[in-house]
Order: sequence, then structure tokens, then C-alpha cells
Amino acid sequence: MRAVAVTAFGEEPRLLDLPQPEPGPGEVLVRMSAAGLNPVDWRIADGAFKDSVAHAFPLIVGTDGAGEVVETGAGVRRFVPGDAVFGQFWRPGRGLGSYAEYAVAEEKSLAHAPRSVTYTTSAAVPTAGTSAYNLVEETRAGEGKRMLIVGATGGVGTFATQLAAGRGTEVIGTATAEKAELLRTLGATDTVDHTLGPVAEQMRAAYPDGVDILLDLVSGPEEFDAMTKTVRDGGTAVSTNGAADADALTESNLRGFNFHNRPSPQLLEILAGLVDAGRLTALVSNEVPLEQAHEALALSRAGRARGKTVVVT
Ligand SMILES: NC(=O)c1ccc[n+]([C@@H]2O[C@H](COP(=O)([O-])OP(=O)(O)OC[C@H]3O[C@@H](n4cnc5c(N)ncnc54)[C@H](OP(=O)(O)O)[C@@H]3O)[C@@H](O)[C@H]2O)c1
Repeated sequence: MRAVAVTAFGEEPRLLDLPQPEPGPGEVLVRMSAAGLNPVDWRIADGAFKDSVAHAFPLIVGTDGAGEVVETGAGVRRFVPGDAVFGQFWRPGRGLGSYAEYAVAEEKSLAHAPRSVTYTTSAAVPTAGTSAYNLVEETRAGEGKRMLIVGATGGVGTFATQLAAGRGTEVIGTATAEKAELLRTLGATDTVDHTLGPVAEQMRAAYPDGVDILLDLVSGPEEFDAMTKTVRDGGTAVSTNGAADADALTESNLRGFNFHNRPSPQLLEILAGLVDAGRLTALVSNEVPLEQAHEALALSRAGRARGKTVVVT
């Protein structure tokens, strides 16, 4: 089968002809229609988790995906061949991932796909959607709270904007002029253009009384520290990129933490339900074939990806 893989950490991913995998006990084999691209995909291929998890090579790139079940391993109860599924296909110990014609997932990493959208749209949901949902839960976003989302126009940000606004949170998101209207359509009450000057300074001028919650999906430690100055006394500041120093934040009377996603099949089912109810929109800006996946990964790595990319398998 065709798959995008690396034969060593740090290599540029390329299209290879690899054997079709077989599902082991508790695993599901899926004929993939689409694989959602997330920044973690190139991080894994670069070896970001090499000290904590075993990896086999060639290592197929990609975590998220959607497609049709073709075979189930021993003990699988929730799925049968023919089911439409979506979820996370990261099996590094077997060198398997989602940018391939066939992929294997643990049963617990999959859910039935939303019925109202295509596989391409479903593939955009798993990592970004579960992260956004958990971020909104863990920051206790809700009625009467004001939240700043830095990186609001990306995969996690567009879901977090919708989920937080859906709970009555006043959401202010970073967006260029080109994307400001889109973000408002998703529920943001205001936007701040990160290309016009430091976001923290613009926020302090526009909202001198600050925000209750900072959700920072972009900044490194130094910029994150500057962003926390927009948060009110007693508020919450979270980084998805390990930029938060929880002890220093506690000293500044803020609740701060580095986020680590904990996906679950229940969460995937909730997201599928929200999509089918028309309460959550998964935006796909670019669809690329497997042959061009390496170029899309390079754009994401360079911080030049625009919107969500899905690799059509
Ligand atoms: N720790 C975890 O468990 C976890 C889970 C999920 C994600 N993450 C991390 O969270 C980050 C976001 O993930 P994602 O999937 O949403 O990535 P993404 O889809 O690539 O989105 C990132 C967005 O940030 C915007 N951006 C870039 N530079 C910016 C700046 N200086 N100020 C404001 N916005 C800026 C870009 O928007 P424009 O195109 O409009 O410029 C881009 O769309 C990634 O680093 C990812 O690895 C971590």
C-alpha cells in the first residue's frame, strides 16, 4: 500500500510502498479516506517522543484519520466491517500511522464518524477537537468569563472558540484581518491582529481590566510570560506548548499549567454528536494527496500552514 513514512528520525517524509498492516488483538484495520494533519505529526517524525515510546521504522506519519472498517482483531466489540469511523491511528511501536491507504487503531482510539459530514471533514476533528474540548473543560470556561485565545484560527483554536463561546464565554481570538470575520462567525466577540503588534499590548489597551482565561496555542516561554500580563488576578493561563512555569504563575496569583491532551472514545462520540447537531464546525482549508503530504508538513513546521490541512488517502 502507499504510505508517507520516514526511515529514521529527522528525515523528510516520503511516499513509500509498504505492506498492508494486520489488526492485532483489540485493534481495528481501516481503509483510510482521509488523514488530518496536526503539528504533532512532524514532531513525532522528528523524534519528539523517542525517549518515552518505542518506534519502529519505516515509521508511517500521522495520527488522525477517518475511513471504513475492513477487519477487526480478536476481542473488538464496538466495531464491525463496514462501519464509518474516525479517531487516532498512532501505533509507533509497529511503525504505523494515518497517512496511508490502510491504518490500524486501538479500538479505544476510535468512534463512529459523524454522519452528516465527509470523511475529509471527520479527519480534521480528533486531535484538535479533543484538545479543544479538554482545554475548555480544564480552564472552566463558561458564562461571565472572558477568554483570550492566541492561535485562534488554527485547528485547536477554531474548535476552542466554538466550544467556549457555546458555553457563554466571551472569546477574543487572534486573527489577521482576512480571518477576523470567520472567527466572529465561529462565536468570537472580538479579534486582535497578531501581525499588527504585540498581542499583549493590544489587549491591555483594549481590555484594561484583563481576561479571566488565557489559552495560548502558539507562544514560547518568553512570549507566554508577556501574554500572562493580560490575565486578571486569580485567573487561569494555559499553554499547549510547554511554555507555562506553574510555580512562577502561582507566585503571580494565577492558576497556570501546561496542557497534555487526554483523548477518549467518549470524547470523540461527543464531538461527532456536536458536529451532527450543527453545533460544531470542522473547517478544512486544504486537501492534499499523499504525494504532497511532505510539502504540507514542511509548511506546518515552518509555521506557514494556513488553516487545517487534510491528506486525502
Ligand atoms: N500539548 C498537547 O497535548 C497539544 C494538543 C494539541 C495541540 N498542541 C499544540 O498546540 C499548537 C496549536 O495546534 P493546532 O493544531 O491548532 O495548530 P495549527 O492548526 O497549525 O494552528 C496554529 C495557528 O496559530 C496561528 N498563529 C501562528 N503564529 C501566530 C502568532 N504569532 N500569533 C497568533 N496566532 C498565530 C496560525 O494562524 P494564521 O494561519 O491565521 O496565522 C495557525 O493557524 C501546536 O503547537 C500543537 O503542537 C498541543
